[in-house]
Amino acid sequence: MDPDIIQRFLESVGQKADVDLYLKLFRSQRKESFAIIVADAQIVRAALDPFHFDLRILAGLGLYPVVLVGLLDARDADKQSQRIWEWLLEDEVPARVIGSGTDLPQEIQTAVHQTFDENTIPIVSLDAAKELAIDDRFRLLRTLAASLETRKIIFLSTSSGIEREGAPPISLVNLSADYDRLLATSDLPRRHASLLRHVKALLEALPQRMSVAVVNPLHLLRELFTVNGAGTLIRKGSHFEKHDGLGAVDRARLTTLLESAFGRSLVPGAMEDGGLVVAQSEHVYLEENYLGAALLASTAIAPYLGKFAVDRQAQGDGIGGEIWAMLTRDFPVFFWRARPSNPICSWYAKQCDGLARFPDWHVYWRGLPPEKIPAAIAYCLALPQSFQD
Ligand SMILES: CC(C)(COP(=O)(O)OP(=O)(O)OC[C@H]1O[C@@H](n2cnc3c(N)ncnc32)[C@H](O)[C@@H]1OP(=O)(O)O)[C@@H](O)C(=O)NCCC(=O)NCCS
Repeated sequence: MDPDIIQRFLESVGQKADVDLYLKLFRSQRKESFAIIVADAQIVRAALDPFHFDLRILAGLGLYPVVLVGLLDARDADKQSQRIWEWLLEDEVPARVIGSGTDLPQEIQTAVHQTFDENTIPIVSLDAAKELAIDDRFRLLRTLAASLETRKIIFLSTSSGIEREGAPPISLVNLSADYDRLLATSDLPRRHASLLRHVKALLEALPQRMSVAVVNPLHLLRELFTVNGAGTLIRKGSHFEKHDGLGAVDRARLTTLLESAFGRSLVPGAMEDGGLVVAQSEHVYLEENYLGAALLASTAIAPYLGKFAVDRQAQGDGIGGEIWAMLTRDFPVFFWRARPSNPICSWYAKQCDGLARFPDWHVYWRGLPPEKIPAAIAYCLALPQSFQD
């Protein structure tokens, strides 16, 4: 497929900047680590057309996922793998079917690795593992993901993600915060409850940073190439530190995080004592790997949220939402500002109790008594910029 057509198609899926970012990110990783896509009989029967289109586009972009067939039910996995292969063959997308054996021995892992040298999609059939319990087939998936250092596992689903009865699909499951609550209620379909249990075990067992998505093949490319995603993203959950001041914080790493998030350099001296960022860091929330942070200053009006940032490559993965949940729990009153062009403004509008729009800044507040609003606005409009233009 013509690369220009592919690029244009992707831009119709999401914003150009996001698409380019993810493309760059995926291409910078080792080829074999990109993704494992789990497709079962239902998908091959009902959604092979969109799935095969997804694979064509990905291969056209030089991205070769592993397709794993038969994880939940391995009966006829060879036949389904063959069908996927035939559809790809018709469009000249290089692919090869590889049988897993009962325990994915080293020589089969090596065969999977080799397909990437040949720019070929490996279709791994679990047919030979059909007598195994589902837990054991998940063990094979774990072996495969460990061997390839996979960064993303995608479960294709005929639903639009993990769903509860009568409720919209869940866009993010943060296992450390949501798992017990979700499984305690009976409104998750059994197959989704079982999937969550297996995914939790998988994420806990694998050392690499990895995310899992449950998505309809119709939305797979949107899931891969947009910040907002599509379907359900499942994450292990992050760990956060809280600090008062920057005494125990690595300022160089914090600078890297802020500059990556905002895509601009801090003004000179901002991270030195008395500098703008340091003055805003009386209360600090920090993801343990410096992937996200919120910085607050005490002011005579109320706490001011001076920085809220997630590393560019980790945006859309839920870290910001986790920080926000802690922040709003700890601080019932605070205010902040954002550039009107910032895409996050629409989300802020839902999070705030009130906002005021000015040409250069939107000012937001939560819990602020009405008499303090003018002072909060004046504070935000007068504050110098922390980033260079
Ligand atoms: C703003 C920011 C901190 C959000 O962090 P994040 O980890 O990407 O956000 P999450 O994935 O946790 O999403 C949190 C919510 O924001 C929404 N969101 C995230 N990015 C968005 C975007 N680009 N456009 C619209 N909404 C967005 C998500 O849909 C989600 O909403 P939901 O809870 O209703 O589903 C991060 O995108 C960032 O660092 N941006 C650049 C720096 C910046 O602009 N900071 C704010 C300046 S005031």
